[in-house]
Amino acid sequence: MDLVVKSTSPDKTKTNVLAIPVFDGSPLTEQAKLIDELSGNAISQALKLGECKGSAGSATLISPVNNLKAQRLIVFGLGKKGATTPGNFRNAIGKVISIAKGTQAKDLAISLDDAEVTERDHHWQTRQIAEVAAAQCYTFNQYKSKDNQKKVSLSKVMVLVSTGPNNKLAQSGAKVGNALANGMDLTRDLGNLPGNVCHPTYLAKEAQKLAKTSPKLSVKIIEEKEMKSMGMGALLSVSAGSKQPAKLIIMEYKGGKRGDQPHVIVGKGITFDTGGISLKPGAGMDQMKFDMGGAASIFGTMKTIVELQPAMNVVGVVTSAENMPSGEATRPGDIVKTMSGLTVEILNTDAEGRLVLCDALTYVEKFKPASVIDVATLTGAVLVALGTHGSAVIGNNDEVIENIKASADYTGDKTWQLPMWEEHHKQLESPYADMANIGGRDAGTITAACFLSKFTDKYPWAHLDIAGIAWYTGGPLKGATGRPVPLLTDYLLKHAEG
Ligand code: BES
Ligand code: MN
Ligand code: ZN
Repeated sequence: MDLVVKSTSPDKTKTNVLAIPVFDGSPLTEQAKLIDELSGNAISQALKLGECKGSAGSATLISPVNNLKAQRLIVFGLGKKGATTPGNFRNAIGKVISIAKGTQAKDLAISLDDAEVTERDHHWQTRQIAEVAAAQCYTFNQYKSKDNQKKVSLSKVMVLVSTGPNNKLAQSGAKVGNALANGMDLTRDLGNLPGNVCHPTYLAKEAQKLAKTSPKLSVKIIEEKEMKSMGMGALLSVSAGSKQPAKLIIMEYKGGKRGDQPHVIVGKGITFDTGGISLKPGAGMDQMKFDMGGAASIFGTMKTIVELQPAMNVVGVVTSAENMPSGEATRPGDIVKTMSGLTVEILNTDAEGRLVLCDALTYVEKFKPASVIDVATLTGAVLVALGTHGSAVIGNNDEVIENIKASADYTGDKTWQLPMWEEHHKQLESPYADMANIGGRDAGTITAACFLSKFTDKYPWAHLDIAGIAWYTGGPLKGATGRPVPLLTDYLLKHAEG
């Protein structure tokens, strides 16, 4: 998918499909009027027939049309003028792209001169179009024979904005949007790959591949032997039952000055989570191939950053293992020592995400981070709390959390803050070790964060539990979502210089 910004007028744009916005209860916008007149009232007639009333998210196809350089028209509603929310715009664009896809069009032009979204400019609008188009045109065909492959002919979206400040905004939005779309495609690909292909060693190779695309990105892979000598007993306890060795993957992007403190993002990379000896039930267990969704979002974000080259330093860390039962697997009741020196009684081997994360969180102290965000499909409990609509954010620093919330609001990659109280910390007490790895059934998302917080004293930190948003479980888009790459990227870019 390629998004380009053009300043040609809609009536002069040669395209398979031209999309024009209309508002509910308002006269036709200037561009709609122009197209209406040229096409012999194609738009006003369709509106009269009630096919699209202009309400937010309504859209209709008019095909064929006369006297235009476009073969077909889509009229899409943005609701009442002055009241189009960011969500309305996103839904409307989703509808437009879905209709265009259905016509087998190769290209689509969306006229944006008259589009208005509350508190969002043409930079945001264009960025959203790039993201939505990429999500809808994404395919994952590598394991299908030619005849069974899903084909999407739509491969180019033109955003039409007349020359002027809005055109400049759209241009910058396209740059970020295209980079985000590429990053999210990588996140989706890695997430969708099955566990027998995408193991920790595969992820390590993926990092090396990414490093080859930019001199500003360097990669270091820490192997089990080195983990052992550094005392990473928690991380190693997770890979103990698997034939696949754990990998700690460090990707350093150096776009800032030498001494600039980096922002660090850390992803949970469990390439398959069986639960270990605390085995998960069989139904739906295939979904646990997505348990490296946090890691996949680190890869996608690093790819986006490498493409945009912001003036800042970023470290992307992926802590990766496969959680398997076997004769060598960790037992419930086993006690391990973490890199920090704290000991953990592993009461449930299915609470493994926090075990791979805690040693990575200690390791990143060495970067003297400006901030650390960890991203993990950590608990089923977050689905109970927030559904599949957003991620939970919990941390030890108000500024980091507020910045995450602001980026979540701007990108639509929603988050909701949960507390961490003394009483929650108490739930993790163990009679044998410094802490247990589970805190009972109640407040599962919070006690998981409490566990991580014991390893993040040295820097400003926030945790994102993305178990609800990393993949769709049903519907036509079933599979990895590419989230929260927009949120992480926006957070990082806001810290770039200049
Ligand atoms: N990877 C799972 C969390 C998960 C569950 C993500 C369902 C998406 C959907 C994680 O490793 C896990 O198993 N967590 C346990 C923790 C419990 C043992 C304290 C859970 O959520 O049940
Ligand atoms: Mn688990
Ligand atoms: Zn897991």
